[in-house]
Amino acid sequence: MPPTYTRLLLLLLLPHLQIFIFLCSKTSSQGALLFINCSGHQYNSSSPYDTNLSRLLGTLASSAPNASNLFSTSVAGQAFGLAQCGPGTAAASCTACLNSAAAKATASPVTGGCGGYTSVDVRYDLCVLRYSNERFFTVPDLQVSSRSNTETATRPEEFSRRNQGMLQKLSSDAAAAETRFAVQTATSSGLQDAYGMAWCTLDLSGSDCLRCLDVAIPALAMDRIGAQAESASCFIAFETHLFFSQSFIVPSPAPSPQVSDNLGGAGGVNATGAAGAGRSEAEEEFSSAGSMRLDLGAIRRATNYFSDSNKLGEGGFGVVYKGVLRDGQEVAVKRLSNSSWQGLMEMKNEIVSTAKLQHKNLVKLVGCCLEEDEKLLVYEYLPNKSLDKILFGK
Ligand SMILES: *[C@@H]1O[C@H](CO)[C@@H](O)[C@H](O)[C@H]1NC(C)=O
Ligand SMILES: *[C@@H]1O[C@H](CO)[C@@H](O)[C@H](O)[C@H]1NC(C)=O
Ligand SMILES: *[C@@H]1O[C@H](CO)[C@@H](O)[C@H](O)[C@H]1NC(C)=O
Ligand SMILES: *[C@@H]1O[C@H](CO)[C@@H](O)[C@H](O)[C@H]1NC(C)=O
Ligand SMILES: *[C@@H]1O[C@H](CO)[C@@H](O)[C@H](O)[C@H]1NC(C)=O
Ligand SMILES: *[C@@H]1O[C@H](CO)[C@@H](O)[C@H](O)[C@H]1NC(C)=O
Ligand SMILES: *[C@@H]1O[C@H](CO)[C@@H](O)[C@H](O)[C@H]1NC(C)=O
Repeated sequence: MPPTYTRLLLLLLLPHLQIFIFLCSKTSSQGALLFINCSGHQYNSSSPYDTNLSRLLGTLASSAPNASNLFSTSVAGQAFGLAQCGPGTAAASCTACLNSAAAKATASPVTGGCGGYTSVDVRYDLCVLRYSNERFFTVPDLQVSSRSNTETATRPEEFSRRNQGMLQKLSSDAAAAETRFAVQTATSSGLQDAYGMAWCTLDLSGSDCLRCLDVAIPALAMDRIGAQAESASCFIAFETHLFFSQSFIVPSPAPSPQVSDNLGGAGGVNATGAAGAGRSEAEEEFSSAGSMRLDLGAIRRATNYFSDSNKLGEGGFGVVYKGVLRDGQEVAVKRLSNSSWQGLMEMKNEIVSTAKLQHKNLVKLVGCCLEEDEKLLVYEYLPNKSLDKILFGK
């Protein structure tokens, strides 16, 4: 390979590698900071408000991840607080996100925080945290911020028109759902596929959720390959690739799989190669999947300590075992054979390419593990899908 190509390849791979190490070595990530808004008035440190606020933030960070809807409100003295994580966020990621949000909110304004302000709204990809000295619950925040991909879709006018329809349907579905959450897919020949997601914080009524989304939708650049808009109360986005967990589309007991009529269909998902609004496909996939890191002990137990009787087969990269996780989920565990840097690179490639393949084959990467000398990739076990292609490599 000519040296220039090698360098190019390294440049292309390095950001992914960072993502990969990040995903596999930490238990969670909060995603990007979308906005922070300081308002109200100033309070003094160690004032009653300050003390109550600390208590409030502690309560929220432990109660929201525990709730099945990942939502919680709390009151401590004169401090009112609300916390919510995005639908499908793993509890550990939810906790980590809310802790980051609380730290950011109370950090000094010099470092971009809102420390000393009585009212703060902060939103990350995975969570929202709000507090105030005034009761704000049920009142939708209609101050929308938005961002969009710079790339325009092919046949932008038709793409925009179809997006308008999809997002209207999406917002009414989200407002109507008890979970205040919905997804949509749109496929039509000659146009890039589109995937949409919307959710409101659970303090809102259906009609206020709709109001909030109706304010957000006009902020979206409809002809782009991806855009998102959000306030403290609601979030709406579309992309030309799948950016939320597949479990929301494939019929499953996941929160309200809202799949449209003529706009797309269950299981009819196939990926386009388009990049998201600054984020890679793999990153999207992982942030939607929440924490990917699995505990080595859990994988050992799941596979009966990599027993021969659990062996499904062997491929270029290592041996594949069948296992059952503690929650009963059947998995296929790929045990990579080498602890070298090369092995790490291979594993990273595999994770990145599987994140892409995932869209096409509906085989889900459940997690990964890098502990001791083990390098393990854990997949959903699907007896009759094209699993072996992925597991044993080509
Ligand atoms: C903060 O403390 C200063 C000095 O102790 C006091 O003058 C001021 O009124 C306090 N502000 C508030 C909002 O309590
Ligand atoms: C969260 O759930 C765990 C286990 O169910 C429980 O031990 C813990 O007390 C709960 N925490 C809160 C704040 O509810
Ligand atoms: C919390 O707020 C209440 C009511 O404002 C106040 O009486 C109390 O002292 C505060 N708690 C603490 C620990 O400062
Ligand atoms: C910040 O929050 C305050 C109080 O909710 C609101 O009036 C204001 O419009 C918000 N600003 C932005 C930029 O969202
Ligand atoms: C999606 O899949 C269908 C059927 O498998 C295929 O006809 C279509 O071309 C695919 N669309 C894209 C954008 O890949
Ligand atoms: C492990 O990696 C080294 C160096 O990359 C290689 O020489 C060796 O053959 C590998 N071992 C196995 C078992 O794959
Ligand atoms: C898997 O496929 C085989 C033949 O290809 C079939 O006999 C078997 O019933 C299938 N099993 C399931 C669970 O669909």
